[in-house]
Amino acid sequence: MADPKKTDGNPAGPADAGSEVVTPNVTDVTEIDVATESAAVAAIEAPVERGKPILQVRNLVKHFPLTQGILFKRQVGAVKAVDGVSFDLYQGETLGIVGESGCGKSTVARLLMTLETATAGEVFYKGQDITRLSGRALKAVRRNIQMVFQDPYTSLNPRMTVGDIIGEPFDIHPEVAPKGDRRGKVQDLLDVVGLNPEYINRYPHQFSGGQRQRIGIARGLALNPEIIICDEPVSALDVSVQAQVINLMEKLQDEFNLSYIFIAHDLSIVRHISDRVGVMYLGKMAEIGTDTQIYDHPTHPYTQALLSAVPVPDPEARTGRERIILSGDVPSPANPPSGCRFRTRCWKAQDRCANEVPLLAIPERFVASTTPAAHESACHFAEEKDVIHAA
Ligand SMILES: Nc1ncnc2c1ncn2[C@@H]1O[C@H](COP(=O)(O)OP(=O)(O)O)[C@@H](O)[C@H]1O
Ligand code: SF4
Ligand SMILES: [Mg+2]
Repeated sequence: MADPKKTDGNPAGPADAGSEVVTPNVTDVTEIDVATESAAVAAIEAPVERGKPILQVRNLVKHFPLTQGILFKRQVGAVKAVDGVSFDLYQGETLGIVGESGCGKSTVARLLMTLETATAGEVFYKGQDITRLSGRALKAVRRNIQMVFQDPYTSLNPRMTVGDIIGEPFDIHPEVAPKGDRRGKVQDLLDVVGLNPEYINRYPHQFSGGQRQRIGIARGLALNPEIIICDEPVSALDVSVQAQVINLMEKLQDEFNLSYIFIAHDLSIVRHISDRVGVMYLGKMAEIGTDTQIYDHPTHPYTQALLSAVPVPDPEARTGRERIILSGDVPSPANPPSGCRFRTRCWKAQDRCANEVPLLAIPERFVASTTPAAHESACHFAEEKDVIHAA
């Protein structure tokens, strides 16, 4: 088979027509690798215009093998945690991802962070597929995509001071560590997230839940990333504290030109901060659109059911609302239903739903229209339904 690296225009030099086939030596390959890696790093470090895609996720799959046996483990199945998820994240926006517990949100987050290896699919960060990067290029991606974790009580090392926790990323990425006054930089970060810089020598247990989450955010900001993935960052906090942390995150987004993926199971929290929202069900994206499209014009029965369950404080509005009660439990991701995964709980399910997987696309009936219902929905029978909700 011809060596794909030996083609015209390749940095190793064009192969002359008619000349004998040249077998590349190790030096050639190394030079090609270095040039390719440098080009990837340059692409990763280049700025992206506001509103253009910074991350493009395509058919992302993560199956966790289910094994049996103690000495001789054999695979007997797989947990299909993420099973063909696609979406874009635009520079400067917040994309909310919502869905019930176990639908694969955290696994998506871990895949984007390259903390898990994808079973299939691609994740393009500024055009570079991060599922296939290594070396300097992967390190550059890891610096630019940071995460804020769900539980501020367990995600911070209790034996480290706040200063060491926030400054730790500099040990992993010395190339961007402050040259002189590292302590001063950490104190600046404490200040930026609304904490007293004099708390630098304190330990996590000396802070409240909201303050701990601020420490987690300061750590996420340390390397000056472009994307922050927030996995249920306020779910463990009191309602009053949730709003403060979300307001802080909105302020930081403007200040540091950040793009966010904001994961939550609570639809009302996601609406407050998100420009667009994706709704996940059992490892797949059910519906995705702007906040108005998803909250005021949902077309997927699952989104409609979730929205109908959001409490409405206004008694007058409450009387006119239809509450959709979903029957049955969420099926196991190890054995998802055929066709549409939502069909075992969907009140509109028909034969077609069992036989044909609905694709995430603008429903045919809305394609030519300008209605807000014209957004991507993975349902064969997508249609608008009046749902009164408070979110
Ligand atoms: N490391 C793992 N090994 C096996 N199964 C896993 C692993 N991580 C997650 N899962 C399973 O994948 C599914 C999705 O999990 P997760 O992504 O944590 O969902 P969510 O964050 O939406 O609650 C769940 O059924 C979970 O049990
Ligand atoms: S495809 Fe069928 S089962 Fe799935 S959401 Fe639509 S109507 Fe319900
Ligand atoms: Mg989770």
